Amino acid sequence: MPHQTAFPSNVGHASDDTVRSFMFYLTHGHHLRPPGLGACAGGTLPHVRSNFARLGLLDEQVVFLPGFFSETLPTAPFATLALLRLDGDLYPSTRDALTHCYPRLAVGGFCIVDDYYAFEECRRAVDDYRSEHGITDELVRIDRLSVLWRRCQ
Ligand SMILES: C[S@@+](CC[C@H](N)C(=O)[O-])C[C@H]1O[C@@H](n2cnc3c(N)ncnc32)[C@H](O)[C@@H]1O
Repeated sequence: MPHQTAFPSNVGHASDDTVRSFMFYLTHGHHLRPPGLGACAGGTLPHVRSNFARLGLLDEQVVFLPGFFSETLPTAPFATLALLRLDGDLYPSTRDALTHCYPRLAVGGFCIVDDYYAFEECRRAVDDYRSEHGITDELVRIDRLSVLWRRCQ
């Protein structure tokens, strides 16, 4: 993921949630990662790639898509997903990922949203998308921050 300096729909009017999101990264980022991986503020492609390698997750099947979700996901080189995990936190990030990836989530697949209960913007993006697309699959709370649902329709 890119180290971004602005979000298209947040430029110039950062909401309280946006500010809270970045404060959260600043204050908790180092607790959320294995030692030595740094905070979750994106990073350069070599940095992200080396983190994957360090965790034994880098093989020829892994594809990195550097750039904004709105630019990379519409043409992302995958047809069907078994698991869609969202961790963009903000409204546009969550919404863009759902718009471009959810239609490719297999029926029976799972959608996990890391920060549904952490950030109102994230929750609103999920709720808006679900309601606009008539998604009524049960939301299951995972822990104090996250939810998932299984795509049944
Ligand atoms: C909470 S962090 C994700 C951390 C990641 N799950 C990890 O464990 O390393 C949110 C990330 O989403 C990225 N991001 C947020 N909005 C984005 C967007 N619209 N397009 C691309 N990346 C975005 C940020 O740059 C940041 O790296």
